[in-house]
Amino acid sequence: MQMLFAFVEGLLFQTVLAMCPESDHWGGWWGYDGYSSGPPRWGDNEDWTICKTGKHQSPINIEPQTLLYDPNLQPLKLEAAAISGLFRNNKKDLTFLVNRHGFGVNISSGPLSYRYRLYQIKLHFGRQNQTGSEHTVDGRGFDGELHFMAYNTELYANYTEAQVSPRGIAILAVFLTTGEHDNAAFKTLQERFFIIDKPDSCTDIENFPLADLLPESTDHFITYSGSLTQPGCRETVQWVIINKPIYISQQQLNDLRNIPYQEWMDSNTRPVMPLNNRNVRTNINFRKRSRLCSMDVSKKYQVNAELWRR
Ligand SMILES: *[C@@H]1O[C@H](CO)[C@@H](O)[C@H](O)[C@H]1NC(C)=O
Ligand SMILES: *[C@@H]1O[C@H](CO)[C@@H](O)[C@H](O)[C@H]1NC(C)=O
Ligand SMILES: *[C@@H]1O[C@H](CO)[C@@H](O)[C@H](O)[C@H]1NC(C)=O
Repeated sequence: MQMLFAFVEGLLFQTVLAMCPESDHWGGWWGYDGYSSGPPRWGDNEDWTICKTGKHQSPINIEPQTLLYDPNLQPLKLEAAAISGLFRNNKKDLTFLVNRHGFGVNISSGPLSYRYRLYQIKLHFGRQNQTGSEHTVDGRGFDGELHFMAYNTELYANYTEAQVSPRGIAILAVFLTTGEHDNAAFKTLQERFFIIDKPDSCTDIENFPLADLLPESTDHFITYSGSLTQPGCRETVQWVIINKPIYISQQQLNDLRNIPYQEWMDSNTRPVMPLNNRNVRTNINFRKRSRLCSMDVSKKYQVNAELWRR
């Protein structure tokens, strides 16, 4: 049995490597260390100067006190179908590149005026607890952050074009934290960690149940306009940060942390960037949810018990 497995795995691995496409912008010198190629130096590249000069950069620290409640923000519409694609270890992060053919996953409504189509999912994480998320809430990080990246299909032909164009990209961000149980959808990824254990290796995933990687409800969120968090940091992104995290087990987090050939020391996260007078809006009505007549304004964000579980 053991031998058979080894044989099948070997086969899988070879075909998988053959199908792995050339990496585009994933290559290059940039990374997450604190020295010559780390986030403070990204803007030194002439194509990526906005990483340094941009004033609508991401990620940010979300300050509960300054969130603006916007009653006009509708719940997000997300057709969470099963997706297929390539799951890849590109050394900077893990990316699930969604197949362009077949059923697309459309994202619309919420703060979005256009319809967007999911094209990839990126996984940011860290080796220490609560250092793996890019966005932070009140200065606190989470164990990881999933980015469901979608491009504007009403205006643009593909994500390459959308990434450099106005209102091109929408990113749904979901925080990752540990709970008592294995996450079933995450397990599908976890089972393939051994295949993507080489730099730029990838594997096919068919019929991945997208909904299981999202919190039960995506109705409530925080939204602001910002940038891609990797070079070239284009300021074309409407961020939608879901109010609830998803939970994976400690073992799943450990397995994630142990994937080799991650070219970073502590985490693959860009440090938070200044807000520069941007509005950060939410459709979470704190006043309605907290007890009427409560004068306890400082509690605002704490009503979201889910985010403050630990
Ligand atoms: C997503 O939107 C496109 C139009 O851009 C439509 O053709 C497609 O059927 C929609 N997908 C689903 C799953 O409804
Ligand atoms: C991270 O959290 C887990 C679970 O609470 C704990 O077992 C582990 O010791 C923590 N690791 C560090 C480095 O604090
Ligand atoms: C994306 O769309 C643009 C504009 O239509 C086109 O020039 C470009 O070749 C497309 N790129 C890819 C990778 O399909």
